[in-house]
Amino acid sequence: MHTDPADYIRQTIRSVPNWPNPGVTFRDITPVLQDPQAFRVLIDLFVYRYMQQRLDLVAGIDARGFIVGSVLAYELNLGFIPVRKKGKLPFKTVAEDYSLEYGNASVEIHTDSVRPGQRVLLIDDLIATGGTMVAASRLLQRLGANTVEAAAIIDLPDLGGSQAVRDTGLSVFTACT
Ligand code: PRP
Ligand code: ADE
Repeated sequence: MHTDPADYIRQTIRSVPNWPNPGVTFRDITPVLQDPQAFRVLIDLFVYRYMQQRLDLVAGIDARGFIVGSVLAYELNLGFIPVRKKGKLPFKTVAEDYSLEYGNASVEIHTDSVRPGQRVLLIDDLIATGGTMVAASRLLQRLGANTVEAAAIIDLPDLGGSQAVRDTGLSVFTACT
C-alpha cells in the first residue's frame, strides 16, 4: 500500500447514484469492509489518532457506526456503547429527533450507558447534514458525558454537516471526503 491512507480509503468507497432517492449519491463503505487491507488501514487511522488520548468509551451510531466503532473500541481497550434508532433498546432510554438528507429519524441511548464526566469518542460512517451526529452528541451531553470528538469515515462538506457539528462546539475528525 503505497498511497496515502485517506486516498486509499476514498478510492475504495463506492458511490451509488440516485440511492435511496433520486438526486442522492450514496457513499457505500461495504467495499472497504470487504477488503481486509482497506479495513485495516481505516481502523488503524483511527487507532493512531486516539491511542494516546484519554478516552473511556466509544459510542457508535446505528448502523454503520457500530462496525467501525466496535472494532475501534476493542483495539483501544475501551467499552462500546450503541446509539440506536428509536425503539431498539430494551432498557430506560433518552431520545433525540433529527432530520436527515433523506427524511426524519430519532436516536436513543440507554440512560446507564455512560456516567457523568466520562470521556467519549462518538463515531459514525458518514457526516452529511450532521443531524445524526448532533442528535447523538446531545444524548451524551444529556447524560453528562464529555464528548471528546465526533469522528467519521466520510465527510460530505457540500452538505455543511461537519461545520454544523463544529458549530455546536464539538471537535470533528473525518478520514476522507
Ligand atoms: C446515514 C449515515 C449516518 C447518517 C448521516 O445513516 O450512516 O448515520 O445517515 O446523515 P446526516 O449527517 O445527514 O445526519 P442512515 O440514517 O441512513 O441509517 P442507516 O445507518 O441505518 O443506513
Ligand atoms: N447518509 C446520509 N447521506 C448519505 C450518503 N450520501 N451516503 C451514505 N450515507 C448517507
